[in-house]
Amino acid sequence: MDTPENSTPCSYENFWQNEAEKLPWFKPWHTVLDWQPPHARWFVGGEINASYACLDIHIHGELKDKTALVWCDETGVERHLTYSDLYKLVNRIADALKQKGVKKGDVVAIFMPLIPEAVAAMLAVARLGAIHCVIFSGFGADALRDRIRDVKATLIITADAGRRRGKCIPLKETLDRALELDSMVKTVVVVKSTGYAVSMHEGRDIYFDDFLAQASSYCAPEAVESHHPLFILHTSGSTGAPKGVVHATGGYLTYVYSTLKEAFGITKDDVYWCTADIGWITGHSYLVYAPLMHGATVMLYEGSHDYPTDVAWWQIIERFKVTIFYTAPTALRLFMKQGVDDIARHNLSSLRVLGSVGEPLNPQVWEWYARVVGGGRDPLRCPIIDTWWQTETGGFMIAPKVLRDHDAVKPGSVMHPLSGIEADIVSSDGLPVEPGSKGFLVIKKPWPGMLVGIWGDNERYKRTYWSRFTGMFDTSDCAIKDRDGCFWILGRSDEVIKISAHRIGTAEIETAVLSQGAVAESAAIGVDDSLRGQTIVLFVVLRAGIAISDSLKKEIIERVHKSLGRFIVITDLFCVDRLPKTRSGKILRRVLRALVQREPLGDLTTLEDGAVIEDICAQYKQFEK
Ligand code: WT7
Repeated sequence: MDTPENSTPCSYENFWQNEAEKLPWFKPWHTVLDWQPPHARWFVGGEINASYACLDIHIHGELKDKTALVWCDETGVERHLTYSDLYKLVNRIADALKQKGVKKGDVVAIFMPLIPEAVAAMLAVARLGAIHCVIFSGFGADALRDRIRDVKATLIITADAGRRRGKCIPLKETLDRALELDSMVKTVVVVKSTGYAVSMHEGRDIYFDDFLAQASSYCAPEAVESHHPLFILHTSGSTGAPKGVVHATGGYLTYVYSTLKEAFGITKDDVYWCTADIGWITGHSYLVYAPLMHGATVMLYEGSHDYPTDVAWWQIIERFKVTIFYTAPTALRLFMKQGVDDIARHNLSSLRVLGSVGEPLNPQVWEWYARVVGGGRDPLRCPIIDTWWQTETGGFMIAPKVLRDHDAVKPGSVMHPLSGIEADIVSSDGLPVEPGSKGFLVIKKPWPGMLVGIWGDNERYKRTYWSRFTGMFDTSDCAIKDRDGCFWILGRSDEVIKISAHRIGTAEIETAVLSQGAVAESAAIGVDDSLRGQTIVLFVVLRAGIAISDSLKKEIIERVHKSLGRFIVITDLFCVDRLPKTRSGKILRRVLRALVQREPLGDLTTLEDGAVIEDICAQYKQFEK
């Protein structure tokens, strides 16, 4: 296999060509890579279909009756769908969508809990060559509306409600609110998942069962050109509205297929559990597409890690004999706090690979994960694979390779770039830094999983990823490369906040805060939190004549939750007279962050008015008491 050290100029293309050949193409490509910076097209001229690659290839062979999806909820109820069951369901949904007029290139929005129908809906949309846009079911009505509008979806698949901690989380109700002012949506398909009461809009809404009633059991997969978009997934940037990251079909499928094999060594015999939701990229790449292409059994758990008891997750691993477990450090930190006795009582010996993603996995947590969950067994048998990547990269970029690195992994490091990937650390002027020095993490060559654009905004694509460093992809992360070439991720270099591994922009939070009429200005600050990675502290300036009160504070926080979702944890809200700003009017959030975290305030020369800091300090200290 190629490594950056021994690559000849085009060897990474050869590597990706070999990987792509493992997928079922309808028509071969004529060019591996057409690279017109900053736009890459992979496997040009090749034709493929994502749902075919995940399902059709298995259903005529030995995997036909093998479980594709095992779903389980908090009460222990379980459902099993074989590859052939999933295939039938996907075909029926695809045919029903086709009867509604959905065709290649149309966008279908999906706002669903983690149930088998959600996975089937994604694959059905892909079967038609249409583009899915999954919107995380934890989002509030405003966040949902913005995303639906951005992609101009006319059909949405949803469910009555999701299940969490013994409660129903209404989804159809949230969607109704999001659609109140919208006329573009013509059809809403509603899965009855929990039985939660919903109101149906005559002429627009239809129950899933009725939608499928006339559908045929076969719907031919549409062969699409490799560069054809497979999905749009919104993610947060430092400024403005969320970006609709677009991934194309052929390159993306090749990439997620290849990386899951290389990092986790997945096989069809694995019972694979990725605890992410389908609303995030991890859910797309490593809960749906890659494991199904590999013919694995995929575990879906609809619920929270600590309900009905603290050991819910360990029970699942024992009961379903999970072999690969992939989760986020934030969950591991919560478990660490609970102690080990309850975990030790479970038989976790089926596990053979432990993965992590979303935030830095610090050495203490790494060690705990290996010892308590990995059972302190031979590290060769149960390696920890910490995967660094982003929504934009489509799949793992830097991670230990299960078959190569397991004995040399340094706890806390994501180790080396995977095959075919060239990553580096550069200074602000784009020059490589000395080993051991902090710098900006960049990717120096295109890779097949690279996003192909931001939906409807090519300028933003160029500006966001390709303007800071010439010819290099800007990840917006800071990192260190040590003398052995091992990478250590430090975190974001922009205003993106990561709460429990979920990504949210300061701009989105501030917009939601401002929708509370009493607030004139606001700044959302991400502060370090030992459990969640980061949480939010809000600074607000109220309109003249309005005084802060506990009830107003509650209202502001409730506004953010309703608008964006309850996963946004706000730990404090401070009311001040002014915010620190630069002469050009940009809020200096880093100064506020330093203040809250009791760190040195740093360079204050760009401040428009130095006195503002003293005022804020005085007000802040007063609140802190
Ligand atoms: C950001 C991307 C990739 C799927 C989940 C998050 C941070 C991601 C790691 C890791 C340290 C990590 C980075 C990155 N991140 N993985 N293993 N170690 N930090 O996707 O929401 O697009 O967030 O998550 O800061 O830029 P995302």
